[in-house]
Amino acid sequence: MSEHFKAAKVTDHVYWVGAIDWSLREFHGHLTNRGTTYNAYLILADKITLIDTVKSPFKEEMLSRVASLIDPGDITYIISNHSEMDHSGSLPEVIQAVKPEKVFASVMGADALAAHFRLDREIVAVKDGETLSLGNMNVSFLETRMLHWPDSMFTYLAEESVLFSQDVFSMHLASTERFDDEIDDAILEDEAAKYFANILMPLSTPVTRLLEKVGNLDITGGIVATDHGPIWRKGFSKILALYSRWAAQKPTKKAVVLYDTMYESTASMARAIGEGIRAGGADAKLMPLRACHRTDVATEMLDAGALLVGSPTFNNSMFPTVADVLTYLKGLKPRNLIGAAFGSYGWSGEAVGQVEEILRGMKVELVGESVKARYVPNDEELAQCYSLGMLVGEKLKGLQGQP
Ligand code: FEO
Repeated sequence: MSEHFKAAKVTDHVYWVGAIDWSLREFHGHLTNRGTTYNAYLILADKITLIDTVKSPFKEEMLSRVASLIDPGDITYIISNHSEMDHSGSLPEVIQAVKPEKVFASVMGADALAAHFRLDREIVAVKDGETLSLGNMNVSFLETRMLHWPDSMFTYLAEESVLFSQDVFSMHLASTERFDDEIDDAILEDEAAKYFANILMPLSTPVTRLLEKVGNLDITGGIVATDHGPIWRKGFSKILALYSRWAAQKPTKKAVVLYDTMYESTASMARAIGEGIRAGGADAKLMPLRACHRTDVATEMLDAGALLVGSPTFNNSMFPTVADVLTYLKGLKPRNLIGAAFGSYGWSGEAVGQVEEILRGMKVELVGESVKARYVPNDEELAQCYSLGMLVGEKLKGLQGQP
């Protein structure tokens, strides 16, 4: 076992024993430009307990960090807070190596782990509110169903005020630093927003309910030990406030104009719309899809008040990049939006109608008249685009600006 991987102390009895993935650049379709970590934790109680494991290729790194503190064979319990394989992938091999007395998961987690790994041993299912004695300390379990999987749960170590929150409050950020107060605030907010938008946005309602439960735990002075990225040691109240704002999806006076283009016709329409939005009193964020990834579009939607989508018609359909982003956004369920469609065409012109249909399916309130331009927009069509933008701008201008 390698001797250069060390555990990192979190509290008197809790240590980080996870792994750093410096190379990950994609996770379920969104970009992870700063890599990630798979966080696992060791509680040095009478019954030594491992919370979560790591993605399969990182098993040796995790066990080496454990071995820097104790003999891994001394682990008595393993608790799986989340059965997704970035946290459970190495579980079967770790069980084989460590031979713990018991492995715990939520009721849905026990079912999910069985379906993933066909383990030849029992996973003990624990219920919401249940407490487990570790001898000289206790942990309790908090079910967080659908945040973000049916099996997800938190584990709370009251004696040291440590909440093990699996994916919630996480971010994809590889770093040698383990704690939030060691990392630049702007990076923390940027990555936390990206993570929330691309993973948790469709679950905004259960997030809001969860925040009340977490508030009842009164851990603002404690530690929140996530499954990805830094451990919240100082700034948990900041991320709590951000989650509250993002989950509310309160619109600001920002209109996102996303589009693709073949010969700059739809692009020139987007630019005219953007000028109109500004003249109407709101802010326009133009996102040409040859320059902007769906990851960033989703993140911009967290506080957008409007979504305008431009697509040329291509083979009787909307442009593939536009279809990609709209499919992605539809699944993320952004709320409280007004919007419109626009685009150029040569002869059939179906794209604008197809975009409108998707926007309606996303419960976007369509405003004004969508604009279509044949081949290259003329002055009148660009004026229509400007007017459409102005209408959107006027509707948004009473809202607050971006924080
Ligand atoms: Fe980090 Fe849902 O796994």
